[in-house]
Amino acid sequence: MKKIILATNNLHKIEEIQSFLLPLGFEIHSARDTAIPKTEEDQSTLQGNALKKARETFQATGILSLADDTGLEVYSLDMRPGVYSSRYAGENVSYEDNNKKLIHELSGLASDKRGARFRTVIAIVGDGFKKTVEGIVEGSILETLRGVQGFGYDPLFVPNGSVKTYAEMTIEEKNTLSHRARALEKAVEVLKKI
Ligand code: IMP
Repeated sequence: MKKIILATNNLHKIEEIQSFLLPLGFEIHSARDTAIPKTEEDQSTLQGNALKKARETFQATGILSLADDTGLEVYSLDMRPGVYSSRYAGENVSYEDNNKKLIHELSGLASDKRGARFRTVIAIVGDGFKKTVEGIVEGSILETLRGVQGFGYDPLFVPNGSVKTYAEMTIEEKNTLSHRARALEKAVEVLKKI
């Protein structure tokens, strides 16, 4: 059976990614199954971090590696927090801390100034092989949290065309339209050709 390893410890990401890869017949592993050190995400772009995570995981395991790096880009914040989305409120902060900061920074802004997009870059690295793909979803940021599913900024983000936040969707619903799903659809096409 073909093997692939997901270069992440994030259970939410693993769950979202798995459903796209299972139909391809891969035996799916993740960084949680190995003792490989966590990649330092010190690159200045999502693409740089995704490639670094996938490359280091491939080098450590010899298994075809898939890494995702995602950022929330808010137009009125000049596309911040972007590549720094996990550290928006500081080092070692919680999702709650980041959401509180976002609510605070956007407080008082009218709905037409609350536009944002989620952008995911997926990198796939194997023996003599390296490829990145991207998925983007446009939407807006609410003034208060809504919903309990998912992770990260999900309770604040409403994709355009939806009345629900990501956190009010089941994983199946989120997987029909999310930034990660869009990148994964492209990644699946890449993996089919390997
Ligand atoms: P990462 O570096 O790709 O793990 O993502 C950076 C940060 O973006 C995470 O800590 C989350 O706060 C946020 N994030 C990533 N993906 C999602 C998502 O699908 N929904 C909501 N927030 C996300």
